[in-house]
Amino acid sequence: MFKVNENYLKLPGSYLFSTIGKKVNAYSAAHPDKKIIRLGIGDVTQPLAPAIIDALHSAVEEMGKAETFHGYAPDLGYEFLRNAIAENDYKARGCDIAADEIFISDGAKCDSGNIQEIFSLDNKIAVCDPVYPVYVDSNVMAGRTGTYDAQKETWSDVIYMPCIADHDFAPQLPEETPDLIYLCFPNNPTGAAITKAQLQEWVDYANRVGAVILYDAAYEAYISEADVPHSIYECDGARSCAIELRSFSKNAGFTGVRLGFTVVPKDLKCGDVMLHSLWARRHGTKYNGAPYIVQKAGEAVYSKEGREQLKEQVAYYMKNAHYIYSGLKEAGYTVSGGVNAPYIWLKTPDHMTSWEFFDYLLENVNVVGTPGSGFGPSGEGYFRLTAFGSYENTVEAVDRIKAAKL
Ligand code: MLT
Repeated sequence: MFKVNENYLKLPGSYLFSTIGKKVNAYSAAHPDKKIIRLGIGDVTQPLAPAIIDALHSAVEEMGKAETFHGYAPDLGYEFLRNAIAENDYKARGCDIAADEIFISDGAKCDSGNIQEIFSLDNKIAVCDPVYPVYVDSNVMAGRTGTYDAQKETWSDVIYMPCIADHDFAPQLPEETPDLIYLCFPNNPTGAAITKAQLQEWVDYANRVGAVILYDAAYEAYISEADVPHSIYECDGARSCAIELRSFSKNAGFTGVRLGFTVVPKDLKCGDVMLHSLWARRHGTKYNGAPYIVQKAGEAVYSKEGREQLKEQVAYYMKNAHYIYSGLKEAGYTVSGGVNAPYIWLKTPDHMTSWEFFDYLLENVNVVGTPGSGFGPSGEGYFRLTAFGSYENTVEAVDRIKAAKL
């Protein structure tokens, strides 16, 4: 008789955004007359930029002719895209990353879930609290997290690094030494950023204790302040301790197109073993690559027109972020984030729990956000709103929340 992977049975509830989706759909079915504004999941709403649409069209044309048709993509991804990334995301920022250290994929969520496979089950992970749930859940599935304490909502074998208001939502170096450290900056869900000097401390720490930092930089396009690093490789020594995950979802609106990449420098070694070789082996074995037409669209992100158009798109979302931040602050809420990230993190009013506030907003003003406690115990009493809605909906949502006068 077959057996299932029992680690899956340890997972409490469903994936956060699936739970929210179900709740909202149930409310919507019961109240079909209500206009619900969704500022929950960080999904983009603006159409793809014209430069990207043009690239998609011309790649589709190529696929229709025998002489320009493309089958399986190369294991690491097409060189035209890896070169564009190496040049624009790394060399232009003074980071020493070569094109053959870049692995193209269909997104940072998959990579951040899959990357733990190349590490031993004995490794102890450290995560920020609150945290993007994929990092923890994918380690639960692998059997790396021990037992779950339903009361505390924590796993016995995970090191939690509380990100609290007193420290501007930045994690502190943990007391217990981890093997793998998940960091995401600009941060999802708090919208907080850390300076280059702060990130350098983490790089120095990881090199000192022999840990690997899994650095999720999916939101780097939203950075507006000069001392906030766009890549961990801006820090000295990061090549020997850090893997970076990047996405085209948030900077270029590819949530439905699917494209991302992971950087594994060749200096990152465990004894003689390069993590680059292990990830290359996994990629080659389990993955057939992002589609040619999508990789061509990704290349267009780095064209002159693409860059200009996407700068405007990011500015559009950041105008929303500013509207949410200032509107809620005016209304007396305690708010943060929204300066280097498309997320606004607010304290729930009147000591409501995160889910109580979620229900309150859904039922009374028909606005959907994300309960902070869904990201970890330190998220309790907080709530996340995304700036990825349309400007009109964002204004209406904030005005509705203000009018509710909690
Ligand atoms: C979020 O809302 O946290 C993000 O959309 C999740 C993701 O990018 O997978």
